[in-house]
Amino acid sequence: MKEQKFEFSIQVYDGIDELDDSDRKLLIEARNATTKAYAPYSHFFVGAAARLSNGQIVTGSNQENASYPVGICAERVLLGSASSLYPDTPIEAMAISYQSERVKSDHPISPCGMCRQSLQEFETRTNKKLRLILGGMEGKVYVLSKASLLLPLAFTNEELT
Ligand code: THU
Repeated sequence: MKEQKFEFSIQVYDGIDELDDSDRKLLIEARNATTKAYAPYSHFFVGAAARLSNGQIVTGSNQENASYPVGICAERVLLGSASSLYPDTPIEAMAISYQSERVKSDHPISPCGMCRQSLQEFETRTNKKLRLILGGMEGKVYVLSKASLLLPLAFTNEELT
């Protein structure tokens, strides 16, 4: 038996002002996209914004449903839109933000497990690192060089062939 270690590191910024222009712009777009969420059940409004390799910006927000599991996270709404509008076009970076009447939006949130799986496959199929910028309406910002860092030992389509 031998132990194997999986490690990753992220960049932690004290606030949005420390980001470079393109990352800052994307995080602002993600913050704005929270206002388009349909979240009457959780009251947790998530916004995502992506910059594609063709220069287009695509946004997404969480869309809930009275049948709770039917709801879709902002990240997967965005991936579906981006892929439908611009098939096979890589995403260079995605910012994710949130606001809520119940909790303060003063720290980053990171994608749920299901979204990690979707992000991971999007990244591998487009063969391009999908940089993640995670931040609330205020506070620290996390930057990850690629989304797949969030899903070590992922189950991938390689297993199916
Ligand atoms: N949600 C997202 O849209 N993205 C995340 O990364 C975490 C959670 C949504 C799902 C649900 O509509 C609400 O936030 C509360 O879980």
